[in-house]
Amino acid sequence: MKALILSGGEGTRLRPLTHTNAKQLVPIANKPILFYGIEAIRDAGIKDVGIVVGDTAKEIKDAVGDGSRWGIKVTYIKQEAPLGLAHAVMISEDYIKDESFVMYLGDNLIKGGIKDFVDEFRQNTPNSQILLAKVRNPERFGVAEVDGGRVVRLVEKPKRPKTDLALVGLYMFDKNIFKAVKEIRPSWRNELEITDAIQYLIDNGYRVESQIINGWWKDTGRLEDMLEANRILLDTLKTEINGIVDSESSVEFKVVIEEGAEIIKSVIRGPAIIGRNVKIINSFIGPFTSIDHDVRVENSEIEHSIILEGSSILGIGKRIGDSLIGKNVEVYRLDKKPEFYRLMLGDYSRVGVF
Ligand code: G1P
Repeated sequence: MKALILSGGEGTRLRPLTHTNAKQLVPIANKPILFYGIEAIRDAGIKDVGIVVGDTAKEIKDAVGDGSRWGIKVTYIKQEAPLGLAHAVMISEDYIKDESFVMYLGDNLIKGGIKDFVDEFRQNTPNSQILLAKVRNPERFGVAEVDGGRVVRLVEKPKRPKTDLALVGLYMFDKNIFKAVKEIRPSWRNELEITDAIQYLIDNGYRVESQIINGWWKDTGRLEDMLEANRILLDTLKTEINGIVDSESSVEFKVVIEEGAEIIKSVIRGPAIIGRNVKIINSFIGPFTSIDHDVRVENSEIEHSIILEGSSILGIGKRIGDSLIGKNVEVYRLDKKPEFYRLMLGDYSRVGVF
């Protein structure tokens, strides 16, 4: 059995970060989202992993390499344009050959891994197995109608969903999916939808089964979802202090402080993670905050946020919250009149002031 991770896509809902970064590499609890998926696949006992890449191919390759770090073998498959999930499957046929495979969307997070689902697929050998989750906003997803475990109908992002069962970004297929992806036509968003390909399997008498996922799952396409994923994952951390905490600082609840980090005259209230070589001076880092490596925070307060590598937050009077700050960003206090906000923001940035 092989695995296919889809790691293309434009990440429009996470601009401006995705102008320069692959959305799958945004770190959650200081680890790229994609790495959680790779680990889940490895833990399910799969060693051959194809990663479908798009415009951000170089960045993904630099981060993941040949997979030896995880004891797997990674093959990269280039998708020339984001023409849909079923298109990604189509171009991967030479790699998959006639094996069964797991397809994992690189921006999805499934807490607790995927081993049980993969084992069930291996045992029952349907032509396809999908995962479903009850959601409050099914119109944002592929939506399923089921009868017992059997899937009757799948619709991609319906305006009026018939159920609240969303397709999770983990699919299992045998070789018949390659026939299906060649038969379907592009959708209204001009993509070859995997949802339609699975519907083709159903319509042509193939066995498509579903399982409901009860644990936590998230498609991290939007800021709110990233922050929620960050909350959930930080909460699973165990305190580990490898940096320096001076005698005037306090570290409360679950906090990870990585090597070379320094906490000076500050309060870190977990769950939180402070990355390598970070400096926190005279500041408060509140619950559910991930600070990636080489960040500097001085005379500021931050909670419920993700700060990426190399950034600095200096002398900000109000607490920063519910925020995602990219790499090498500077947020600082002006010390000369006139009193105003001085902004240099990338395209599609969002700033909230109170
Ligand atoms: C894709 C699928 C959708 C599925 C979702 C899960 O949506 O098309 O059926 O429910 O992933 O994350 P997209 O991310 O392309 O909007």
